[in-house]
Amino acid sequence: MKPIKVGLLGLGTVGTGVVRIVEGHQADLFSQSGSPIEISKILVQDKNKHRNISVSSDVLTDNPWDVVQNPDIDVVVEVMGGIELAKELILAALEQGKHIVTANKDLMALHGPDILKKAADKGCDVFYEASVAGGIPIIRTLIEGFSSDRITKIMGIVNGTTNYILTKMSQEGAAYADVLKEAQQLGYAESDPTSDVEGFDAARKMTILGTLGFHANVSLSDVAVKGISKVTKEDIAYGKRLGYEVKLLGIAERQDDHISISVQPTMVRTSHPLASVNGVFNAVYVYGEAVGETMFYGPGAGEMPTATSIVADLVAVVRNLNLGVNGRRGFVPYKEKKLKTDEQISSKNFILLHVEDKAGVLAQITQVFAEYEVSLESVLQHPNATNPLAEIIIITHDANKAAMNKVLNRFESMSVVHSIKSVYRVEG
Ligand code: NAP
Ligand code: HSE
Repeated sequence: MKPIKVGLLGLGTVGTGVVRIVEGHQADLFSQSGSPIEISKILVQDKNKHRNISVSSDVLTDNPWDVVQNPDIDVVVEVMGGIELAKELILAALEQGKHIVTANKDLMALHGPDILKKAADKGCDVFYEASVAGGIPIIRTLIEGFSSDRITKIMGIVNGTTNYILTKMSQEGAAYADVLKEAQQLGYAESDPTSDVEGFDAARKMTILGTLGFHANVSLSDVAVKGISKVTKEDIAYGKRLGYEVKLLGIAERQDDHISISVQPTMVRTSHPLASVNGVFNAVYVYGEAVGETMFYGPGAGEMPTATSIVADLVAVVRNLNLGVNGRRGFVPYKEKKLKTDEQISSKNFILLHVEDKAGVLAQITQVFAEYEVSLESVLQHPNATNPLAEIIIITHDANKAAMNKVLNRFESMSVVHSIKSVYRVEG
């Protein structure tokens, strides 16, 4: 039987895992897809580099067009990363009628609509399961498993590096900078960790999940992003005392036709299942009107987990080839995107203030909340051990973002408020 030929763009961490699974699971993949799958060309930068896997030198190339314009290749698997070259090569491969599997969240978050449009025009498949939460099959779950439901909320711990850092800070009382350094030494965090710690990596993944969950074309610029670099061990300790863990959550919400998407460090009630997702693990919590609460948990990165998702996409392409239905079941957003205003975005909030420790200050603070109709769930005050200021911790009931911004602006201008130490969204 004629094998389906695959061209791999990249043989790094993920590409190596793809080769291992395709070569190691031949019989199962054949039984499930209906054809033998053969990796016939692999693009790398340096053909002479030492690899953890043995690959015939005829298969390796440093010329991308040997893959993309190779008439023998049916499917291109892009696992090289980056944006511009990856986009150019994927569009060129689609032009040649090749199907695409990619793990590239940066590319799909920024140029997903262009790539999917080109694929639809050419009758090709583009699958990108590995681009969000590595080994968790969340994309197929949203497209297929929830096609019968209407999703109202998606909350994700979709960045393993930041979850590792926050877990260590919580479990060991360690400071952010120390744990980041350790994560870099262990190879979890990159030498330039900006994309992970400032929330941009999670924002790209939430762009993809928001688009799939709400059937509207969410753009990266629609996501309000705040990272973890300002989270202190003191905030985490306060959260724990009140029954919360700090997690970097991507939150996509829908109310009627309006949606909001954000990424921010969030105080998550310890009883919520996301609070116990620790270390480099990822989890995505999905709330559907019909199904209610669901949660998907697993490894968000790594050679074999990520390759599992890629090869599952490959099997889907090969099945479609054998059925002659490629490009027919592509996901197409069919709803107009309507973003919530700040008046429509609502959440509970945790606020830590340093204030003057004298009579009447608490009354002045609570008066500001009352003025903007923000109701309070709890207020805690105690003297600060190292200075003459008092610390006030306030948890609000659900309050809209516009009102909260007004409250915080007023605090900025009050002489009795020494500083707004921290503000967190609260969930669970
Ligand atoms: P990686 O280890 O850095 O591997 C990249 C591979 O692409 C290398 O083999 C490299 O060649 C090749 N390459 C890069 N630029 C190239 C160029 N201009 N021309 C030719 N070859 C080029 O990356 P990775 O960790 O496997 O990640 C690949 C993709 O998967 C990225 O989009 C990433 O975001 C995504 N992803 C990764 C993970 C993970 O756990 N690592 C999880 C989910 C998604 P050389 O080997 O010769 O240097
Ligand atoms: N840097 C990402 C993370 C890799 O830490 O989750 C997986 O996308």
